[in-house]
Amino acid sequence: MAKRFIRFIAKRFIQLHHKLMRRIGRLVATIGHYLYRLSSILSCYLCGYHNPIDVLSYPGRPQGSVPSSQIRWSIIEKKLPSTLTTCADIGCNTGFFSRKMARKGIYVYGYEPDNSLFRLLVLSIESGELQNVSVTQYSLTPTNIHIIPEVDCCFFLSVYHYWVQSFGWEEAALGLRRLWEKINVCMFFEMPDSASNAKLKNELKEMGETPEECKRYLEGMLNKLHNARITYLGRIITDFRPNEKRHLFKISREG
Ligand SMILES: C[S@@+](CC[C@H](N)C(=O)[O-])C[C@H]1O[C@@H](n2cnc3c(N)ncnc32)[C@H](O)[C@@H]1O
Repeated sequence: MAKRFIRFIAKRFIQLHHKLMRRIGRLVATIGHYLYRLSSILSCYLCGYHNPIDVLSYPGRPQGSVPSSQIRWSIIEKKLPSTLTTCADIGCNTGFFSRKMARKGIYVYGYEPDNSLFRLLVLSIESGELQNVSVTQYSLTPTNIHIIPEVDCCFFLSVYHYWVQSFGWEEAALGLRRLWEKINVCMFFEMPDSASNAKLKNELKEMGETPEECKRYLEGMLNKLHNARITYLGRIITDFRPNEKRHLFKISREG
């Protein structure tokens, strides 16, 4: 009798212990989740990056102005073919364009190498409850660009100048050709110019001195892509540096 009673008490104790541990485990996971979110947002905000909310805010952006991503999206959205099913977003940052495309039902592959931005990217996809975006923390280069899957569309916005800076114009152009081979329908391409980018003036000086010269330089470069029709979409403001503008193009596959 006493033995059975002790066994019963021991069993109940073990059950209660497991229940308590599960509850503590869930609590620790929830606290960890919110601390992770908070630290990600804080670290990015302190670094002056996007916040993960759709309406992007840079600390340096003039009050009341429309964020550059919003302006670019309003232009790009009108130029999207209706047949797209997949998209690669290279240098997707906190995922503004990835989320916009995913909400259209397009499957998105996002690539972002920066650790703080990548954390925000994951959070923004998660809070958007998007199932059709896969993100990879990876730096794409002219040499490894072939690892991306074949896609209908690609966003290659304000990343090419990093390639030019790190690998030079020739190697960057080789990478662009390799990237183009992966794209079935169209690519949106954006690039700063030497006319207004004070930081990269030297690296980009080959483009020319005026915005018009730089635009023509980029058109010439993009025209070398095989079976490509180039459409100029404009010279768009940036959020960080009010005096800097960037050239936006659509490249469509012909034939
Ligand atoms: C100027 S931001 C542009 C962000 C976004 N594409 C846009 O236009 O709003 C450049 C982004 O590309 C990322 N990046 C830089 N080098 C990269 C590389 N080699 N491969 C992929 N992403 C890169 C940066 O971390 C950053 O998020």
